[in-house]
Amino acid sequence: MLSSLLSVAALLSPAFAVTQAANTTILGPYGYVPPVYPSPNTTGIGWEGALAKAKAFVAELTLEEKSTMVTGYPGPCVGNIIAIERLGFPGLCLQDGPLAIRVADYASVFPAGVSTAASFDRELMYERGLMMGAEFKAKGAHIALAPVAGPLGRSAYAGRNWEGFSPDPYLTGVAMEETITGMQSNGLQATAKHWVAYEQETQRNPTYSDTIGFDLLQESVSSNLDDRTMHELYMWPFANAVRAGVASVMCSYNRINGTYACENSKSLNGLLKEELGFQGYIQSDWGGVHSGLSSIEGGLDMNMPGGLGQYGMYLAPLSYFGDNVTIAVNNGSLDVSRLDDMVTRIMTPYYFLGQDTDYPTVDPSGADLNTFSPRSTWVTNFTLTGPSSRDVRANHSSLIRKLGAASAVLLKNTNNALPLKAPKSIAVFGNDASEDTQGFYNQVNWEYGTIPVGGGSGTGRLTYLVTPLEAIKRKAAETGALVQQVLNNTLIASQTSSGGSDTFVTSALLIPALPDVCLVFLKTYAEEGADRTSLDSDWNGNEVVESVASFCNNTVVITHSSGINNLPFASNPNVTAILAAHYPGQESGNAVVDILYGDVNPSAKLPYTIANSVDEYNGLPTTAVNSTDPYAWQAWFEEKLEIDYRYFDAQNMDVLYEFGFGLSYTTFKLADLAIEPLSSDSISATAAPATTIPGGNPGLWEDLYNVTVTLSNTGSLAGAEVPQLYLTFPASTPEGTPPKQLRGFEKVYLEAGASSSVSFSLMRRDLSYWDIISQDWVVPSGAFNVSVGFSSRDLKVAGSLTVL
Ligand SMILES: *[C@@H]1O[C@H](CO)[C@@H](O)[C@H](O)[C@H]1NC(C)=O
Ligand SMILES: *[C@@H]1O[C@H](CO)[C@@H](O)[C@H](O)[C@H]1NC(C)=O
Ligand SMILES: *[C@@H]1O[C@H](CO)[C@@H](O)[C@H](O)[C@H]1NC(C)=O
Ligand SMILES: *[C@@H]1O[C@H](CO)[C@@H](O)[C@H](O)[C@H]1NC(C)=O
Ligand SMILES: *[C@@H]1O[C@H](CO)[C@@H](O)[C@H](O)[C@H]1NC(C)=O
Ligand SMILES: *[C@@H]1O[C@H](CO)[C@@H](O)[C@H](O)[C@H]1NC(C)=O
Ligand SMILES: *[C@@H]1O[C@H](CO)[C@@H](O)[C@H](O)[C@H]1NC(C)=O
Ligand SMILES: *[C@@H]1O[C@H](CO)[C@@H](O)[C@H](O)[C@H]1NC(C)=O
Ligand SMILES: *[C@@H]1O[C@H](CO)[C@@H](O)[C@H](O)[C@H]1NC(C)=O
Ligand SMILES: *[C@@H]1O[C@H](CO)[C@@H](O)[C@H](O)[C@H]1NC(C)=O
Ligand SMILES: *[C@@H]1O[C@H](CO)[C@@H](O)[C@H](O)[C@H]1NC(C)=O
Ligand SMILES: *[C@@H]1O[C@H](CO)[C@@H](O)[C@H](O)[C@H]1NC(C)=O
Repeated sequence: MLSSLLSVAALLSPAFAVTQAANTTILGPYGYVPPVYPSPNTTGIGWEGALAKAKAFVAELTLEEKSTMVTGYPGPCVGNIIAIERLGFPGLCLQDGPLAIRVADYASVFPAGVSTAASFDRELMYERGLMMGAEFKAKGAHIALAPVAGPLGRSAYAGRNWEGFSPDPYLTGVAMEETITGMQSNGLQATAKHWVAYEQETQRNPTYSDTIGFDLLQESVSSNLDDRTMHELYMWPFANAVRAGVASVMCSYNRINGTYACENSKSLNGLLKEELGFQGYIQSDWGGVHSGLSSIEGGLDMNMPGGLGQYGMYLAPLSYFGDNVTIAVNNGSLDVSRLDDMVTRIMTPYYFLGQDTDYPTVDPSGADLNTFSPRSTWVTNFTLTGPSSRDVRANHSSLIRKLGAASAVLLKNTNNALPLKAPKSIAVFGNDASEDTQGFYNQVNWEYGTIPVGGGSGTGRLTYLVTPLEAIKRKAAETGALVQQVLNNTLIASQTSSGGSDTFVTSALLIPALPDVCLVFLKTYAEEGADRTSLDSDWNGNEVVESVASFCNNTVVITHSSGINNLPFASNPNVTAILAAHYPGQESGNAVVDILYGDVNPSAKLPYTIANSVDEYNGLPTTAVNSTDPYAWQAWFEEKLEIDYRYFDAQNMDVLYEFGFGLSYTTFKLADLAIEPLSSDSISATAAPATTIPGGNPGLWEDLYNVTVTLSNTGSLAGAEVPQLYLTFPASTPEGTPPKQLRGFEKVYLEAGASSSVSFSLMRRDLSYWDIISQDWVVPSGAFNVSVGFSSRDLKVAGSLTVL
């Protein structure tokens, strides 16, 4: 989704200039879209009562009304389906985004997806979804444009990785399921986005000439990928989302195998509606529609936000849907049964979640804050009732603080640098430590001020922000400690070359003696619309650390970042600790102080891998295409299943900090691995044929094995640890299978000295690969290696299970 009118103008151009954007030429081994038509009707399985209500509603609609139900109109929310008053239907309000209701005041800003993933904590994932969902609902949004499983994280550089969770599909799948279950338990509709293989921002939308008429110059980047990679990586977490009963799925901007995601019949009709049994509606990303009938027949059910017109103006009549749908039905080119199914799919979750009774009205203040479709663009009447500027935050700040601390990954801790032991003198460095100077909202990569979350449509509008410096001062005051700060990165970084440590200490810092601890706060900004161009921290972060560490032998580095960073200072002996605090949301300072002072024992784990050197990452975004060919932008997913740790493992490469790694202030031990089959029957290679339910064949979700281990806290402090289960598939599995894959994790809190049994269920899908020949999930025969450890490379106990 686009964040503002400005970005619409900059990034999009009118869809009406394009008649048929898709190039369905067979492009080679990963470039063919098998046609899958017709778009299947919803069967309403699991939502039967609601389906009956939706069908009864559709039966009352005129053709013109049906056509308005499938296209957005400018209105108070970032997406709006207009009311049909004669039937008591109030319309639908769609709002961003994945970490907050964005276009709102007095709402909370939660930790980002990357932070949530780093917690490896199912319960906190669920709680976050529950509380965010409560805020959307109280503001009158029917549909949250969240959560995100695409981008998954093929590339370290992708601009939106932080909105989603992790490049590991299993971890992201769990996070999707917990978030959706939490959100929808309020009666709010969730949207799993962006479907699918949307792994870079560069050329995510077509380029047009800037002359009147906006001729198409180049199409969006095409993600060209094979069918096994699609199933085992990019589709995987969406299967969890569909299984969790997600109301809507948003198709993405990119092309897939040469055809736009929002009209790709293989991916929408074939994979999502048929194979995964998705019963809800597919909505487009904002401006992602490039055709009328092709999109409708390809499986798209709702065009959002409607017409995006010339000069970025938002003109509802220019929708490929809307009135064009009426014309198409009347001239016989579109069967009305397809339109009926589109509206039925839209209304079924509405009834299933009880949105037809006592749903809150849209908060009028949201309309005033909406810069995407301000009142001046509205072409229909919206009556906004109910109190304005409702405070919907409740007690959510305590969960935000808790998750902020639970998601800060301790990467290095030497000489027991942390937790801090009542330091008498603290020096704080870096422009990420303190207050912003220009107002939080809609700024890009501001110099002064901590980064709580990323930008674009995935951001949040802060009601308040606790900065690290503010929280440190409050904590230090308890022991009367001296706190001094230097926030100017340019100044700090320049000291290394210009004067050395003496100049620094005496002239810049004015600290009479060496501080007990030097806390350096670094930041890395990211937002949609652009990929990162560097993995270094912003604003000379590396030089800032080098400068401070040149005189301070107890330098603790804290990063606020969208994800993977280059950490060239990791081996510097004066850098005694590194804490990756990601994007923690509005309680940022409190959460980090909880960890620094040991009020909370760190327990987060890296949801990605940090390589030794920046040139070791693969899956780079396609950039700088040196051609004016309209179809020149191609991203070949040639690494197939080898993304993140799957790649580094397959290539036997050393890394700096591996997936799943994170330190604690206490120590843990794992023992007693036991593997029990849950049935005495032998395991068939494939699930028995069965009626598809949301999530696919129900047999895929059946637990086949129970793995248990004993976890002990062997240290002297209470704390939580995350035992992680990795599977190595038997030798009979086709070539290209990653050496190991995460298939279980559990966060367990233990008092010092305590032990607990931890169990993991392995379901059929966990033990299967996608067989491109039989087009089914197959459990290979032979011995699977089952390992449980504290990271993907710190495996403590192992055993095996054999499938004959
Ligand atoms: C149909 O869609 C095209 C392309 O967006 C647009 O130019 C045209 O105005 C639409 N027609 C109607 C009747 O909505
Ligand atoms: C589709 O793309 C191929 C490969 O880039 C190109 O050769 C062909 O001309 C394109 N087809 C159309 C109809 O533009
Ligand atoms: C992409 O191309 C591959 C290889 O031709 C094919 O197996 C797969 O089904 C295609 N996927 C989509 C979504 O078009
Ligand atoms: C959908 O249902 C309608 C009404 O029962 C039927 O006419 C139509 O053929 C069905 N479409 C598909 C693709 O099965
Ligand atoms: C029917 O209407 C649609 C939508 O306006 C248009 O794209 C199509 O060309 C028309 N077909 C005929 C046969 O007139
Ligand atoms: C909006 O409502 C006003 C007053 O009821 C009416 O005059 C006007 O025509 C309506 N506008 C639209 C676009 O429906
Ligand atoms: C927040 O409030 C809810 C509802 O009153 C309550 O159930 C929950 O325990 C509270 N949570 C916290 C962390 O205080
Ligand atoms: C930061 O330090 C640099 C280098 O000394 C200086 O040029 C700049 O004006 C300083 N910025 C602020 C805001 O003080
Ligand atoms: C570490 O800090 C000490 C001062 O405590 C300094 O003398 C030394 O040069 C520093 N080492 C490095 C590698 O920067
Ligand atoms: C840092 O240097 C001081 C003064 O030389 C020394 O007392 C202290 O032990 C050193 N700390 C570390 C962590 O090396
Ligand atoms: C771009 O293509 C032109 C013409 O083929 C060539 O001369 C030029 O070196 C290329 N530039 C880059 C950066 O590859
Ligand atoms: C797995 O084993 C543990 C420990 O024996 C037990 O508590 C748990 O119920 C088992 N899970 C299943 C699904 O059987």
